Amino acid sequence: MQIILCESAEHVGVRAADIIEARVRQGPAVLGLATGGSPKSTYQELIRRHREEQLSFGQVTAFTLDEYAGLPPGHEQSYYSSIRREFTDHVDLPLGQLITPQGDAPDLVTEAERYDAAIVAAGGVDVQILGIGANGHIGFNEPTSSLASRTRVKTLAGATRADNARYFPEGDVPRLCLTQGLGTIREAKLAILVAMGENKAAAVQAMVEGPVSAHCPASVLQLHRRAVIILDPGAASQLSMQEYYREAQEFNDQLDRSPTRPWL
Ligand code: PGA
Repeated sequence: MQIILCESAEHVGVRAADIIEARVRQGPAVLGLATGGSPKSTYQELIRRHREEQLSFGQVTAFTLDEYAGLPPGHEQSYYSSIRREFTDHVDLPLGQLITPQGDAPDLVTEAERYDAAIVAAGGVDVQILGIGANGHIGFNEPTSSLASRTRVKTLAGATRADNARYFPEGDVPRLCLTQGLGTIREAKLAILVAMGENKAAAVQAMVEGPVSAHCPASVLQLHRRAVIILDPGAASQLSMQEYYREAQEFNDQLDRSPTRPWL
């Protein structure tokens, strides 16, 4: 794992965008996109670079991480609508190259299998962007999710439904979802997890410095071949080895093989 400590949420977005931009400028790329608050500063920075620095997403195929079961793609709170609103409608990624699990598919089990196979058929994800839930989930892989799981139907934890209740004023937060599994996410060639705020600090500490455990699903990233964790001061506040992470980061930044260009 590489831990990058940043001074602000905006700085987190810049560091994450540096990594994504370097890969996208190399040629056709498959990105894994997360929804939610955490990647917003990353998407804002990528949109800015698209507008001001000719960063094109024309050769990108994007797979989202998860979707609420029962919501049609056009629903305002579907993750399909959300990722379009937050990111893809503001860049030149062709709509047909944005691929999401279909939350209102008649057979969700088959849909999950189809989605997992579509990622493999696309050659796998080159760069996966992730947030982390306060309970340690990535995607919607709630605590006790199998570390080997594939894309599947999952029951949302009460804590997750409470966190997301603000988006469903009528109280109708879905109970089920489709989510890429932890085994699916592990196959991405590079994973970037961004986190901000003290409410994520305990989950971040467990992910980075705790044991690999289904109790903290994000800890599966300790088994990932290339995971970069980018944190603001609040999210990093419970890490015990901050000095080491800072030293390593400063040293890495001076090298040609910097963490922002890990494939060079
Ligand atoms: P957030 O959610 O980015 O909106 O905080 C992250 C998550 O629950 O996975």
